[in-house]
Amino acid sequence: MRKLFDVKKWIAEEEDWIRGAVTGEAVIATSGGVDSTVAAVLAHKALGRKLHCIYVNTGYMRKGEDEHVRELFKGLEMEVEVVDAGKRFYDALKGVTDPEEKRKIIGELFIRVFEERAKQTGAKFLVQGTIAPDWIESGAGIRDNIKSHHNVGGLPEKHGFKLIEPLRELYKDEVRKVGKELGIAEEVYNRQPFPGPGLAVRIMGEATPDKVKILQEAVHIAEEEIERAARRGECEIPWQYFAVLLPTKTVGVLGDKRAYGYTIGVRAVQSIDGMTAKYSEIPHSVLARISNRITRELKDHVNRVVYDITSKPPGTIEWE
Ligand code: XMP
Repeated sequence: MRKLFDVKKWIAEEEDWIRGAVTGEAVIATSGGVDSTVAAVLAHKALGRKLHCIYVNTGYMRKGEDEHVRELFKGLEMEVEVVDAGKRFYDALKGVTDPEEKRKIIGELFIRVFEERAKQTGAKFLVQGTIAPDWIESGAGIRDNIKSHHNVGGLPEKHGFKLIEPLRELYKDEVRKVGKELGIAEEVYNRQPFPGPGLAVRIMGEATPDKVKILQEAVHIAEEEIERAARRGECEIPWQYFAVLLPTKTVGVLGDKRAYGYTIGVRAVQSIDGMTAKYSEIPHSVLARISNRITRELKDHVNRVVYDITSKPPGTIEWE
């Protein structure tokens, strides 16, 4: 990480560089997350209406994400095209259980869907919000390939666009500083990370649409309760916090009847850049509220909630 990061100077230089490098129309795949939003605002500052923003909903996004993205771009006074591609992704992942295979299929299909739309804009340039840990952890250089990260574009070699990656050398904390300096709202530049393959890597095994619905609710509850607790001063806001869905069912009781349902894992970690992480010491009272709500609101599907107390290493932050 850089010792001294002069954010104003960095923005001015990058803006100039983008303006010089991009000689025609450009597209960006926006996800609503910190990196692609910061990249989009920076590129928009440099390129104005020459930049086209496209948001692909893979079907593995969080609950209400389309609406969130629409609102976000309205607030930024930028246009965004929303593409609903859920069915194509669900079909492509039918029967697929291996984590790396899931990541590869999603990454490739994402590019295909995005390219179809991007070509219609006539763009020759592709702006990406890739940041340093994305390519470091994907096995560039000497590190082992832990996971094939897909950051709205783990692009294949041949894609026909000239690539513009203004955030490539930055770590997350630096990207947030840039976002703040660019005037992006705090809840946006401080938003927790969300993986490119989305909920597909938070559903162990086959990531079916039914499981997505269950997990979307569980993630929503975990996020909401942790954010409420942080606002009340009961805990620090973790660096990342979410839920995962395990593939096996266990026995429980619902009323006075036998239940046989899924287990939800809750994960919350403190980190600087996602490269290492320590599990968050969320108070038991907060965990109890999350557990109660999940088992009540999802009572037909889930009868057990566990909290992950593994740091990274040896665990990774996401479960797949
Ligand atoms: P792991 O699970 O590798 O995650 O410890 C480290 C950080 O990266 C996020 N993550 C991803 N982000 N594309 C992304 O843009 C991906 O494919 C991806 N996989 C994991 C993860 O959420 C955590 O913040």
